[in-house]
Amino acid sequence: MSKTISGFSKLSKSKKIDWIVNTYFSNTEEAKRVLKQYWSSNEKLQQLHDEFIENTITNYYLPLGVAPNFLINNTLYTIPMAIEESSVVAAASKAAKFWLDRGGFKATVISTTKIGQVHFMYHGDFNTLQRFFKQVKPKLIEDAKPITKNMEARGGGIIDIELRDKTSDIKGYYQLHSSFETLDAMGANFINSCLEQFAETFKNEALAFDGFSENEQDIQIVMSILSNYVPNCLVRAEVSCKVEELKEDDLISGEDFAIKFVQAVNIAEIEPYRAVTHNKGIMNGIDAVVLATGNDFRAVEAGVHAYASRHGTYSSLSHAKIEDGIFTFWMEIPLALGTVGGLTGLHPLVKLALELLHKPSAKELMQIVAVAGLAQNFAALRSLTTTGIQQGHMKMHLMNILNQFDASDNEKILLTDHFKTNVVTHSAVVEALNKLRNGA
Ligand code: MEV
Repeated sequence: MSKTISGFSKLSKSKKIDWIVNTYFSNTEEAKRVLKQYWSSNEKLQQLHDEFIENTITNYYLPLGVAPNFLINNTLYTIPMAIEESSVVAAASKAAKFWLDRGGFKATVISTTKIGQVHFMYHGDFNTLQRFFKQVKPKLIEDAKPITKNMEARGGGIIDIELRDKTSDIKGYYQLHSSFETLDAMGANFINSCLEQFAETFKNEALAFDGFSENEQDIQIVMSILSNYVPNCLVRAEVSCKVEELKEDDLISGEDFAIKFVQAVNIAEIEPYRAVTHNKGIMNGIDAVVLATGNDFRAVEAGVHAYASRHGTYSSLSHAKIEDGIFTFWMEIPLALGTVGGLTGLHPLVKLALELLHKPSAKELMQIVAVAGLAQNFAALRSLTTTGIQQGHMKMHLMNILNQFDASDNEKILLTDHFKTNVVTHSAVVEALNKLRNGA
């Protein structure tokens, strides 16, 4: 059967599935069964999911877990996390509990400005372009009023539009570099609509501007789009305590732990190979909450990693120090998040997740998400610098290995108990399971 098809999106869902299973699978009935077992029996809910994207054939499930005991700015939160990695929620919960007993997390929103750009080409005199921009700027803002009216009524809107000369990078290249305040909305649609309006007004007004010679009027718009780089939409999360208060068990003293911890962070600050993994651990926490709250984790990922490279080398997002006997661990990251619009009013689980978080504003959600990232980073560094990561990791992974071998509930109980005092490795689990099954 041909692997190309035209008009696929116009087929019904069942015809799409027929084509896929007949084209790509030898056991067509089994493939259909797997796809259909994830359909919701609630038809309305299924239709909602079908209509999120094009060509939906089924739903892709991720576990939604919760990490309780997060004390953030003196408010307690149970944080929802959508993630498949076994140890992430457990690690977050552990870090939350650790800091609950030491004053909790402090978080502050530093700034909330978002950026969008109209990229255009112009090959005339720069001074004339500047004069034109100065004249047209109020009209750019005026023509966008139908889009900005509601946002302005709530206190947001366009902050500024600047003309930027980029001709030293690309001949004839300029930007309308625009900044926005989008309040509780992530604001992508708002910003993009404003930018497209700016572009249209800018181009049309250029034709009527008598300062331009005939060929100068030709402003070519290349594209109008928001930037997911938001270094001025920044949040800070922090924990601190006396060094001796860091001691939790007899494995290591508070002081030795603090020193090793700061060393681990310093390594991530200067060594990109380590920084990427260090920041990946932070993103374990961030992405899980971003996803659970219906936000755009690709946008967050892209923006955060660009920020981690802002000094020219990829570096750690978090920092740590010991000063006057006080251990401080903190992070500043850019997060463009929304708690209204998009999926937030649409996806029942997202609505539930936001309610669980006391229906936060976008600023509050920025703080919660940043704290989840810092907590995750703390948990990872704590394991790495003391027991090593595998102990906790493999303990959490045990259930995955047991499920791989179709362990029964009873086998799971017995082997979970067995591995409380034995090291979990893939082969040790297989061996123990075989022994149990052979009655040994
Ligand atoms: C694993 O998902 C994340 C860690 O590798 C993070 C780190 O190394 O800091 C444990």
